[in-house]
Amino acid sequence: MPKSLDPQTKKHLASRVNYYREMGIYDFYRRPVEEGVEFVLQPATENLLADNMSPAKTKLPAATLPPAISDKPSALKLIREDIGDCTRCRLHKGRTNLVFGVGNVNADIMFVGEGPGADEDAKGEPFVGRAGQLLNNMISAMGIGREDVYIANVVKCRPPGNRTPEKDECDTCSPFLMRQIDVIKPKVIVALGAVAAKNLLAVSDSMANLRGRWYDFRDTKLLVTYHPAYLLRDPRQKKEAWKDLQMVMKFLGLNPPAKAPQD
Ligand code: URA
Repeated sequence: MPKSLDPQTKKHLASRVNYYREMGIYDFYRRPVEEGVEFVLQPATENLLADNMSPAKTKLPAATLPPAISDKPSALKLIREDIGDCTRCRLHKGRTNLVFGVGNVNADIMFVGEGPGADEDAKGEPFVGRAGQLLNNMISAMGIGREDVYIANVVKCRPPGNRTPEKDECDTCSPFLMRQIDVIKPKVIVALGAVAAKNLLAVSDSMANLRGRWYDFRDTKLLVTYHPAYLLRDPRQKKEAWKDLQMVMKFLGLNPPAKAPQD
């Protein structure tokens, strides 16, 4: 027999359901957690694209909520567990490693890229190839290190031949990115390139129009700049990207090192 919920738990449950609805998630499944706690409410992101998606179809568990997870590593671990050995979209077919995200859980800055390439797929870590080397240089130019920031992508599996991830692939994966953002709570999110910008901001515009200004996003500030892979193809745009990063530095009160950014 389902337990009846006390008013505080009901309120907590309702606010969580609203939170997930805002992310476009309407279906939930029950997940056994530990002894003494029957179920934990989790969004069923695999149903995100279901035609029958409607709040009326939301299946709420008559369950006790688990204690809130307050430490960031455990909260991230739970997100990773929820992703599991993911087969929610076609990208899983070509994956060697799922690329979850890496970095400082208390980072002020979170960089969001598009999706893993070959090097990232092989290593299971974002931005470790040539574009990653340039990103590292951009981060050092800001007077901080890769270990000071958090880095993730819109999609967590490598698109075949490094093609741009398709909309349904981004829609399936991005709820997990939103949850990572909500756990990290960075002061600034830097969207690297059009795919990250368009998926985070749900807008469709040119990079020229998107970059160079601040957006309010999920209780934080978001700025769009060029993707390092694009900067490798068109190095003339590096000075524009540097202007964007200087906006971040000014916002966070970071002092640049004396040395100019390396290539
Ligand atoms: N490009 C991205 O967008 N992300 C990576 O992790 C690597 C390259």
